[in-house]
Amino acid sequence: GTTRHYHFEIRHQNVTRLCHTKSMVTVNGQFPGPRIVAREGDRLLIKVTNHVSNNITIHWHGIRQLQSGWADGPAYVTQCPIQRGQSYVYNYTIVGQRGTLWWHAHISWLRSTLYGPLIILPKLNAQYPFAKPHKEVPIVFGEWWNADPEAVITQALQTGGGPNVSDAYTINGLPGPLYNCSDKDTFKLKVKPGKIYLLRLINAALNDELFFSIANHTLTVVEADAVYVKPFATNTILITPGQTTNVLLKTKSHYPNATFLMTARPYASGLGTFDNTTVAGILQYKTPPNTHHSAASLKNLPLLKPILPALNDTSFATKFNNKLRSLASAQFPANVPQKVDTHFFFTVGLGTTPCPQNQTCQGPTNATKFAASVNNVSFIQPTTALLQTHFFGQSNGVYTADFPAKPLIPFNYTGTPPNNTMVSNGTKVVVLPFNTSVELVMQDTSILGAESHPLHLHGFNFFAVGQGFGNFDPNKDPANFNLLDPIERNTVGVPSGGWVAIRFLADNPGVWFMHCHLEVHTSWGLKMAWVVLDGKLPNQKLFPPPADLPKC
Ligand code: C2O
Repeated sequence: GTTRHYHFEIRHQNVTRLCHTKSMVTVNGQFPGPRIVAREGDRLLIKVTNHVSNNITIHWHGIRQLQSGWADGPAYVTQCPIQRGQSYVYNYTIVGQRGTLWWHAHISWLRSTLYGPLIILPKLNAQYPFAKPHKEVPIVFGEWWNADPEAVITQALQTGGGPNVSDAYTINGLPGPLYNCSDKDTFKLKVKPGKIYLLRLINAALNDELFFSIANHTLTVVEADAVYVKPFATNTILITPGQTTNVLLKTKSHYPNATFLMTARPYASGLGTFDNTTVAGILQYKTPPNTHHSAASLKNLPLLKPILPALNDTSFATKFNNKLRSLASAQFPANVPQKVDTHFFFTVGLGTTPCPQNQTCQGPTNATKFAASVNNVSFIQPTTALLQTHFFGQSNGVYTADFPAKPLIPFNYTGTPPNNTMVSNGTKVVVLPFNTSVELVMQDTSILGAESHPLHLHGFNFFAVGQGFGNFDPNKDPANFNLLDPIERNTVGVPSGGWVAIRFLADNPGVWFMHCHLEVHTSWGLKMAWVVLDGKLPNQKLFPPPADLPKC
């Protein structure tokens, strides 16, 4: 492979959307951030220099980071943040992965403006297992607040209430024509007839699962989270924050007498307030050569809008997720762990903590603050990085290895009225011996209203071997697990009022964060970490940290 160098300079830049100008934290003054393009097998050296007062870390979402855990990026998990005036070089090699991934800041809510595509092309001379596209186009969904997102989350955490929702969704940073004062900030995809385009969809929104569709066009899903899937055609894509999906768009064989909108808006299964607006971009066929179409007549073509599922269309969401299967070909096999060494059962959901004395809170009651937890443990971020303390054997007083393998008090997880809403705070981890084959069932709880949670695991891909609604039944449900061609990914939606079962092989030593990719839930504590111990062989060990690793 080649070594590729990038320099990310973190600095402020004025950006205007919806007629609001704000100074935002950017990489190299760009919003969204720059695109990283590499090939499978390449080594990336990305120097991040921080010129702003916010502490910064960058995460390479979906990169396995085999033996390079120091480059993973979640703040206080694998590294202390990069402070103003400091630099850190993220140094890693892309092993056995190709497809669409992305990068984003991994501290507080800074990923609202610090994000971009990370595209891994197949090795030179390697082919896609589908028709070669005429062009490849990243389509990154984001969220825009007129206010400073750091102020939004700070206020929510102080008052204990829900954060103000965003003012718009964006496609490649642009809200599009359905918002006020936004016509000129519209993403336009110009295409030719009779061609195949590969759209690399990335959901970088903070808090919302999204439906996406293009009027009068069919999309063929070919890849999810940088893993090839069995192709299937659909009019609408569902994509949760953290996920990536590659689709083929075959354009019409002749110049159509219309222009087409592409739109995205949320899938929100549960209660709660969310931004229910719609972002739109335009699919425009390029002016045909030597025709009677004048520029003016092209401008006046009718604009067709896609029809998206209803905001709470769980039936569509379930059907869509069930269609996703690993390609599982001879060249790209699905290495699903067939036997399990250790079983885990985690509840994921919202809860509450008591409001401090002499304060009025804005949680579900005035006496409570919102919290979120895994097995009723709300994760408290340490003040030093877990990976360093693990590597140097200094974990005493930083974290404890007693994260519960199952809920301490089982209850009716999908029952109403909610019970068991209190969470306890802690910095707890699960320690796994090298090469442990793990099965983890994640159960959404109805505490404070069911909501679908996109759970993201760092350092691994996992196989989603089963999912269902209601309470998981350990005696019945495993019989229906798909151990042949389940979807392999790094982020999975735990269905609202239901469960998902995943399997992974703990073959990557390090400390690996797992959390809900709805950023407000991460802020509230829906996160934990796995410590994977070194194996016996030299190539099964984590190397010592680089000399420039930031200190806390
Ligand atoms: Cu995309 Cu831990 O994040």
